Amino acid sequence: MPTMDSQRPAGLRWGMASDIDSPLRVLILGGTTEATALARLVAGRPEIDAVLSFAGRTLSPVPPPIPHRIGGFGGVEGLARFLVAEGTGAVVDATHPYAVRIAANAVAACAAAGVPLAVLSRPPWSAVDGDRWTEVDDAPAAAAALGPVPRRVFLTVGRLELDAFAAAPQHAYLVRTVDPPDPPVPLPRLTLIQARGPFAQADERALMEREGVEVLVTKNSGGTATHGKIAAARALGLPVVVIRRPPGSGAGTVLHAPAAAVDWLLARHSGSTRRGV
Ligand SMILES: NC(=O)c1ccc[n+]([C@@H]2O[C@H](COP(=O)([O-])OP(=O)(O)OC[C@H]3O[C@@H](n4cnc5c(N)ncnc54)[C@H](OP(=O)(O)O)[C@@H]3O)[C@@H](O)[C@H]2O)c1
Repeated sequence: MPTMDSQRPAGLRWGMASDIDSPLRVLILGGTTEATALARLVAGRPEIDAVLSFAGRTLSPVPPPIPHRIGGFGGVEGLARFLVAEGTGAVVDATHPYAVRIAANAVAACAAAGVPLAVLSRPPWSAVDGDRWTEVDDAPAAAAALGPVPRRVFLTVGRLELDAFAAAPQHAYLVRTVDPPDPPVPLPRLTLIQARGPFAQADERALMEREGVEVLVTKNSGGTATHGKIAAARALGLPVVVIRRPPGSGAGTVLHAPAAAVDWLLARHSGSTRRGV
């Protein structure tokens, strides 16, 4: 069941205020460093009254400095209902670039509810001189790209797509996730590490050397928090299998920095106060 915290002052219900100074009600779809950074930037701003939404995948998310809710909305219809019921004036989809269902739901629900949408997404990493990348479309293709010869693989693709690597049981896997995989991963030779980023390059390099890593598998998450493994692999001359980003929807205003999202929200707020809504 979705849960909503109680930090919003009693009596202040979204959709009830209509004076020209009323704040813009904002839904931030989160689960990323960028969403948390945006929450920090809007916390305490009188023009913006934002709630941050988590899917509930992480067992103990770091509590944000603004009201938050946890759990799915119930598809497009549920999200559209939420937007209308809460009087939402703008949505920022700051979910992970690989979270394709919620991104598509946000596009459809915002269109249905007539709410402006911005997509806050970190630019992807690009290979530079010294990188030995093999780019593939998905986790099964990444498992196949590891080849038939047994290798020590550092697997950093999150905990939801680990099953795909059961198709390549000849390898020994070092798997790093934020929360323990549940159900357990069906990989015969497996070392599990639980850790939450950011990860520094020097630490990543030391880990890879200590564990005898021969190849890294990663999504192209972008950003700085988890780039250390890419730089460490480059420094060690290791190959990297990179799962490409799924194509974006192309809808909404695309922004690359939390500060740009604040500017976008402030522009929506001044637009709504000029119209007196
Ligand atoms: N996929 C990744 O590689 C990855 C990596 C790091 C972090 N994350 C974060 O983990 C969460 C789940 O990712 P996913 O790939 O499983 O998503 P997904 O497949 O795109 O979404 C599956 C369902 O989870 C619910 N959901 C997702 N994000 C939500 C949010 N922020 N607030 C409320 N409900 C949400 C929605 O349920 P309803 O249809 O019921 O609304 C959605 O239909 C996201 O918040 C994402 O930012 C994902």
